[in-house]
Amino acid sequence: MSFPANKQQAVAVFGSTGSVGLSTLDVIRRNSQRYAVGAITANKNVDKLEAQCVEFEPAFAAMADPLAAEELKQRLLSRNLTTQVMPGDDALGQIAEDPQMPIIMASIVGFAGLDSTLLAARAGKRILLANKESMVVAGPLLKQAATDGGAAIVPVDSEHNAIFQCLPEANQLGAPVDRAAHITQLVLTASGGPFRAFSAEQMRHVTVKQAVSHPNWDMGPKISVDSATMMNKGLEIIEACYLFGVEESQIEVLVHPQSVVHSMVRYCDGSVLAQLGESDMRTPIANALAWPERIDAGVGQLDFKSLTGLEFEAPDPLRFPCLELARSAMRQGAGANVVLNAANEVAVEKFLEGQIGFTDIAAINAHTLKNCESSEPRSVADLKALDSAARSCADDLITNGLLSVGMA
Ligand SMILES: NC(=O)c1ccc[n+]([C@@H]2O[C@H](COP(=O)([O-])OP(=O)(O)OC[C@H]3O[C@@H](n4cnc5c(N)ncnc54)[C@H](OP(=O)(O)O)[C@@H]3O)[C@@H](O)[C@H]2O)c1
Repeated sequence: MSFPANKQQAVAVFGSTGSVGLSTLDVIRRNSQRYAVGAITANKNVDKLEAQCVEFEPAFAAMADPLAAEELKQRLLSRNLTTQVMPGDDALGQIAEDPQMPIIMASIVGFAGLDSTLLAARAGKRILLANKESMVVAGPLLKQAATDGGAAIVPVDSEHNAIFQCLPEANQLGAPVDRAAHITQLVLTASGGPFRAFSAEQMRHVTVKQAVSHPNWDMGPKISVDSATMMNKGLEIIEACYLFGVEESQIEVLVHPQSVVHSMVRYCDGSVLAQLGESDMRTPIANALAWPERIDAGVGQLDFKSLTGLEFEAPDPLRFPCLELARSAMRQGAGANVVLNAANEVAVEKFLEGQIGFTDIAAINAHTLKNCESSEPRSVADLKALDSAARSCADDLITNGLLSVGMA
């Protein structure tokens, strides 16, 4: 598919009130001659969505929560704004399929982003994929939907966007990397999160506030906790396998605390191509939006003279067991990825609510992956049933207090 650069294109920003959503709106704001905000969506945050309607005057604003949508509708009426407010999950689906929205920013957090991303793929959109969970749980189905619908999935996760930028053109949206004999490995870098240097004992006592304070990136709470457990890197291994058609053994993870090198591709002649830049999501968002062209992202140039040193080290599998759990799930198959993602979403939510400790997250993930049946999902219905079963399994573990007696 081709993307005309000389015509203003409508972007539907799913999850516009979140961290990636706000960065996306900023990139569009800076490039308003090329892009317009066609639609915005959120779950419950009426204040932010209202402010965005005032500034961007999109055709549609959808809220998954119907009560929040009603509140937004009343507020926009009193302001005489013409934006049509749409309630519920179905509304998100309608926007994803709307032919007037050729570009979809998929930046809802978690499994909740799956349906709209799948519908956009079937409808042949350019999908800027931040919602890694949809690729983790539905990689084969999502890739097939994109092929059938003629959609292009451009990665926004900074690591995957870095790899995307370092790949030959034929492998960016097309041929799996394992068929390009000259690529030997993909290297995902990881900041190591806020607890990179903590002992196992210290990690047992960390607070929610510490876990959501990432040293380099300003992100939403769920991905911040995932970064702290390194489950985020585990999810990214699975995401990279599906996006680029590689085995998990072809993916190396390196802890790089400065977050300057966003990821790398190793070639058979010994060359390593890397993408570098500031830790600012507007760079990969702008790249995904304009690819194969380049647009202003509002991000400053990297000042090499101010860099005190770039470090790289292997992750510690004992303090960060979620990494190996993700590799193990990927080796088991697509069903295990669904189970692991579901367990992790439950565990992170309970941690954020103060119901479990930080190290319980990995324990819940390990227990659920081991004990929940994970047959290969053949359809979206299969996948949702598996997701629910895994959530119940993780919930039971917490509710029945099995964590405290070492059952995990
Ligand atoms: N933040 C980053 O730097 C970053 C980097 C790479 C990848 N990502 C990925 O991008 C995605 C978004 O991350 P984020 O940090 O931007 O998250 P976030 O700040 O928590 O924002 C999440 C967005 O999703 C909406 N949302 C939440 N639950 C929903 C539901 N059930 N139905 C519909 N919408 C819902 C939220 O709406 P409300 O505001 O109304 O709750 C909000 O707009 C995640 O998959 C994450 O892994 C993020």
